[in-house]
Amino acid sequence: MLQIKNIAASYGTSQVLWDISLVIEPGQVVTLIGRNGMGKSTTIKTLMGQLPVKGGSISFDGRDLSLMADFRIAQAGIGLVPEGRGIFPNLTVKENLICAAANRRQVSNPWVLDRVYEKFPRLKERETNLGSNLSGGEQQMLSIGRALMTNPRLLILDEATEGLAPLVRKEIWQCLGMLKGEGQSMLVIDKNLAPLSKLADRHYVIEKGRVVWTGDSAALVADGDRVRQYVGL
Ligand SMILES: Nc1ncnc2c1ncn2[C@@H]1O[C@H](COP(=O)(O)OP(=O)(O)O)[C@@H](O)[C@H]1O
Ligand SMILES: [Mg+2]
Repeated sequence: MLQIKNIAASYGTSQVLWDISLVIEPGQVVTLIGRNGMGKSTTIKTLMGQLPVKGGSISFDGRDLSLMADFRIAQAGIGLVPEGRGIFPNLTVKENLICAAANRRQVSNPWVLDRVYEKFPRLKERETNLGSNLSGGEQQMLSIGRALMTNPRLLILDEATEGLAPLVRKEIWQCLGMLKGEGQSMLVIDKNLAPLSKLADRHYVIEKGRVVWTGDSAALVADGDRVRQYVGL
């Protein structure tokens, strides 16, 4: 479904990505792991067309994303839960969700408002509250709900559990587990190796803009010491 091959990317003259390759098959959950500043979010920005691809290629459902405008890439079926959540603080919960709604691929059981509320009852309770009035956990749920409202073929989560209380984190992991059970393909960036190894099929560790380790969850557990060193734990 998604194939990133040897991509490179820069901010101006400063090159950040040197050689990133990864593959996601339909229904798979894949992770990007690494210390702060190693290029995880930059990989996502490049994938989403927010940063030009300086080398290599990105193909999604057989289409070359490196030639597409960023809004076309979102329309092609990639939903992003960005680092820092990115919700609209001066819109209500309901408005945040509705303004993202789309079902371009005409999926048969699409994500609509009520289905998001079913998955996140807290959002229903907070329906008329402004985004800025939500707790961190509620904002994160809203950000996930909003990405789901676009009915993405691939859902990308950039540090979705960052800065949340343990109980709220647990809720997010449970939610991602349920989504996987429903066949949702995901690319998950996080530093919590235990929940990642339970959730995901394949992992990619990046260091200074290069993939330095990849393996399935059994390999991640077996090679735990080495991977923890890369992540700085
Ligand atoms: N807008 C930007 N302009 C210049 N450099 C940036 C910008 N965003 C990130 N960087 C640099 O790119 C590198 C990778 O950052 P990033 O992809 O955000 O890392 P990660 O998500 O893995 O923590 C870092 O050295 C960071 O300082
Ligand atoms: Mg980041």
